[in-house]
Amino acid sequence: MTRLFDEIAEDYDQSGVAFFAPIAEGLVDLMDLAPGERVVDVGCGRGAVTFPAARAVGPTGSVTAVDISPTMVEHTRQRAAELGYAQVNTAVVTGDGIGVPDESADVVTSSLVLFFAPDPGAELRSWMRLLVPGGRIGIATFGAADPTWGRVDDLFRPYLPAELLDARTTGASGPFATDEGVEALLTGSGATAVRTVRHSLHVHFRDAAQWRRFSMSTGQRAFWRFVPEESRGALYDQATQVLEEARTDNGDIVLLQDVRYTLGAVASPQPAGPEPADLRSMWGR
Ligand SMILES: C[S@@+](CC[C@H](N)C(=O)[O-])C[C@H]1O[C@@H](n2cnc3c(N)ncnc32)[C@H](O)[C@@H]1O
Repeated sequence: MTRLFDEIAEDYDQSGVAFFAPIAEGLVDLMDLAPGERVVDVGCGRGAVTFPAARAVGPTGSVTAVDISPTMVEHTRQRAAELGYAQVNTAVVTGDGIGVPDESADVVTSSLVLFFAPDPGAELRSWMRLLVPGGRIGIATFGAADPTWGRVDDLFRPYLPAELLDARTTGASGPFATDEGVEALLTGSGATAVRTVRHSLHVHFRDAAQWRRFSMSTGQRAFWRFVPEESRGALYDQATQVLEEARTDNGDIVLLQDVRYTLGAVASPQPAGPEPADLRSMWGR
């Protein structure tokens, strides 16, 4: 995973297709960040969540942007410096963990990351530990995709190894197939007040060439690697045919992507109540 994202970091989210940014901005809006809050953005990539979060918490807050890919982290660090966002810190996640102290964050965000984890429950528990009592967590994952995405993805299937066809990562079954599945992951990691918000994103492509650039700048680049070079042209021609069927009257190819936001919190400690002995005296017994 580290190698894949390090390899695509240069092109990641640079295809001109509005995809990661609107998904991330939707997550930041839902987290209702206040000036001064401390945010950890897990799997920051090139900062799709990090920067709108940094604007929301302002100079008195902080956003710690962490990722397993050192190149993604370096891009985010450089962009934060260009923008003059001193409230953004960056760190590379290593085998030793996220490198953020337990109970030091008000909010954890993570957009389009959790489904990559071999053990999403364990991963989430490690993120929950970062939160103070009363802290909030928000995770973005994919809901159902437009059937056109499915038909394009199907073109890659004959070439893919079994692990990439795994139903858990494709979301065809397992925790990422339903709202309830992801909610159960959060509840199982200790979150309370867990709820889901859905949003349908219209993704616009000028043409199939822009789709190909987009797909090479996302995790789908791994799919292309498994297609033998001599078969890539034919696959692209078939994808073009499928995509052209989704061309709309405004001239763009428009695909729908359902986005699932799963939100939760860490229970606040209850205000200390009277001791049982005091209760006895209150009740006159
Ligand atoms: C699809 S990208 C999303 C990046 C960013 N959140 C965005 O919305 O553009 C997934 C990112 O998660 C990172 N990643 C994957 N597993 C991770 C983990 N266990 N901890 C931290 N980062 C991880 C990858 O390196 C990659 O940068």
